[in-house]
Formats: sequence, structure tokens, C-alpha cells
Amino acid sequence: MHPVRIAPSILSADFAKLGEEVRAVDAAGADWIHVDVMDGHFVPNLSIGPMVVKAIRPHTQKPLDVHLMVSPVDIWLDAFAEAGADHITVHPEAGPHIHRTVQHIKSLGKMAGVSLNPGTPAKMLDYLIDDIDLVLVMSVNPGFGGQHFITSQLRKIEAIRKMIDKSGRDIALEVDGGIDPETARQAIAAGADALVAGTATFKGGPGYYAANIAALRNALPTPLASQAVPPASGSDVD
Ligand code: DX5
Ligand code: ZN
Repeated sequence: MHPVRIAPSILSADFAKLGEEVRAVDAAGADWIHVDVMDGHFVPNLSIGPMVVKAIRPHTQKPLDVHLMVSPVDIWLDAFAEAGADHITVHPEAGPHIHRTVQHIKSLGKMAGVSLNPGTPAKMLDYLIDDIDLVLVMSVNPGFGGQHFITSQLRKIEAIRKMIDKSGRDIALEVDGGIDPETARQAIAAGADALVAGTATFKGGPGYYAANIAALRNALPTPLASQAVPPASGSDVD
């Protein structure tokens, strides 16, 4: 398993100065830049397209983690690859042939991700696990930032961690939606090794980005051995 990667979602950035915002979260310690693409059809919101990905590309060397909430999705893959996406993540419900879509992304030389909505079972990955590079577990229904983490997704993260370990392949397990220091701790404990964070990264403005990202990293679960603190002398713990 990798050390945890933090992927700020620019959906929560100031869209009037996106380049500056991308540089700021990069400097504040972001590992990946998460780009939420919404079409007003697959999800009830509209966000950005390949031209905006192209525009932010020169502002960071970090991987652009592009999350396509678009249907039909296949017609957009080449455009996002050309615009500079490094990871391209799709939902199985966004096209007729998810296996073919994954192969298409790989043929473009990009990391291929599959995202599962809260109602979509881990089983969906059974015949894709040998081909994909990233799984994105949605811990909210996609479409908006600032929603509450759906705790039932922790069991799905655990199940997918087992699938990934069994595969022996290097597959990122990323969680998206409602991440704050407490839900980050839970997601990591369940097996996640990458976290998307929009609201939790951008709250307070640029002066807080480094501290906000650090707070997510520091939410790492304490190793069991170091939790075994003996009670203070004379105290009676029951
Ligand atoms: C939801 C998006 C998320 C969202 C995360 O459709 O995929 O990336 O922006 O936002 P927060 O971290 O605010 O829940
Ligand atoms: Zn996302």
C-alpha cells in the first residue's frame, strides 16, 4: 500500500483564479489535483471541460486526477487525454461497455480509474481488477461538493482493499466525498490510500491550504503498538 495521497478537488477552488489556486494547493502539499467534470446529465451539476484542464495543465507538475461524471463518456476520453489528464476515471454506468472504456483509456497511455457510486457494489470490479490502475469509491452521491460522508461505504472500501491485495497489482484506492480529518481516518483504516478533499482543503482560503492538507495527513490511524499507553499511576480505567 502507498503512503496516503491527498487530492484536492478544484471544484471547491475559486474558479475566477484557477491557475493560482492549483499552484497554491500544489505548494501546500497536494499529491494529485482532482478535477471533477460534470455534464448536467449523468449528475445534476455542470462544471468544467477539457479546455479548462488544458488551461490549468501548465500550473502544476503533479498528476491531474480527472474524474469524469459524464454520459456517454467514451467520446470525451481523447479530449481529456490531449488536454493533459494523467488519470482518467469513469463510472461503469456512464457507457455501454466499461471494459472497452478502460482499454481505451489505457491505449491513450493514461492511468485508468473506475468509480463506484454509493449504490454500486464492489462486485462491479470483479472482471476489471486485472486491468485498472485506480478505484474511486464515491462516499457521496456525485454532483456536489460539501456533502456528508456515507459511512456504509467503509465496508465497500474494506472489500475493495481485499480485492486489490489479492490481485497483487498496484492499484490506487481513492475515496471521494465528505472527507475531513475524522472521515479521512476512517477511510484510511478501511484501506484507502488516496483521498479527494474539496471543502476540507479550500476552507479558510490560501493561508490555510497547507494546514488543511496536513490535518488530513495527520488523520492517519495511529499504529496499534503506539496506542498501548499504560494508564497513569493510581488511575483506575474501567
Ligand atoms: C462530487 C465530487 C467530489 C467533490 C468532493 O461529485 O466528485 O470530488 O467535489 O467535495 P467535498 O470534499 O467537498 O465533499
Ligand atoms: Zn470527484
